[in-house]
Amino acid sequence: MKKIITVSAPGKLMLFGEHAVVYGKPCIVTAVNQRMFVMAEQTTTNELLFDAKDVGIKNYKKRIDALGKGQIPKAAQFVEIAIKNFFLCHPEFISGSHMLGLKISTTSEFSSTYGFGSSSAVTVCIIKALTELFEIKLSKKDIFDIAYKTVLDIQKIGSGVDIAAAVYGGTLYFVSGGKMIESLNIKPLPLVVGYSGSKADTVTLLNGVKEKAKKYPEIITGIYTDIEKIVILAKKALIKNDLQTVGELMNFNQGYLESLGVSTDRLSNMIYAARNIGAYGAKLSGAGGGDCMIAIADKKHEEKVKQGIEQNGGQIIQIQTHAEGVRREL
Ligand code: PMV
Repeated sequence: MKKIITVSAPGKLMLFGEHAVVYGKPCIVTAVNQRMFVMAEQTTTNELLFDAKDVGIKNYKKRIDALGKGQIPKAAQFVEIAIKNFFLCHPEFISGSHMLGLKISTTSEFSSTYGFGSSSAVTVCIIKALTELFEIKLSKKDIFDIAYKTVLDIQKIGSGVDIAAAVYGGTLYFVSGGKMIESLNIKPLPLVVGYSGSKADTVTLLNGVKEKAKKYPEIITGIYTDIEKIVILAKKALIKNDLQTVGELMNFNQGYLESLGVSTDRLSNMIYAARNIGAYGAKLSGAGGGDCMIAIADKKHEEKVKQGIEQNGGQIIQIQTHAEGVRREL
């Protein structure tokens, strides 16, 4: 009987420390309970066959020995390079008569426009699915390393925090490249999430900040150091479940993100509305330039905060924090 593997990995939201984390500072990320799914099976065709209807990929084909070569549609890049990198680490599965082909399809509970880290979630799922298909054991860190290499091969820049959230799940204190990945033992957070309605390109934003840092090195270095202080305090406040302080630190963090130039009018309006209505605090989440904002609010203010965000052009997305990392489903 043909073995079909299904695995899933969570999306993520950045709580603190985005951008600074790319330059060696810590950040805090939480995995959310909206998941990416990958179905994988072996075939006899010596090709990768790939379908991802959510992102417009239908019947994509590539010879296994040509993976990573020639033109690759943007929406197929992470899948193709992840498979290539898995085989680079495990050539035994494509040598001799061993290797057949692969049929892969993906589907997601969240839109790739939210900034929940869909590319990283799919990358992690692919590597996990291949370990299941070929019945090999890889540690979480091994999966992280292959997936992070994949992100760097494609984007050339990035901390790997989205990858860590997809692999480990929960809420993580993370330092760039996985130098530190610490799971925080905290309660679920009362987050309100508002989608700004537009997708941001992480690499464009990262390069914009890099340019700013070239022009104003002292200022931007100072900002990163201050963000690091915020992240360290936020970690303590999260562990104590001191939501008032968590909110105030979000507000500080947002101020620095505004200084880096990555907020937008829409995001800032949603954030101010949430704060004015009684949220403990609010900030953008992720690279900025669009995507989502988050607010932290108690039960009493939650509904009003949601309304305020909607009145300022946001779409509320229901999530729970601290979701489980990559796992086999079937
Ligand atoms: O994937 P995004 O757009 O949510 O960005 C993740 C956080 C950044 O610090 C902006 C990028 C990174 O690689 O850490």
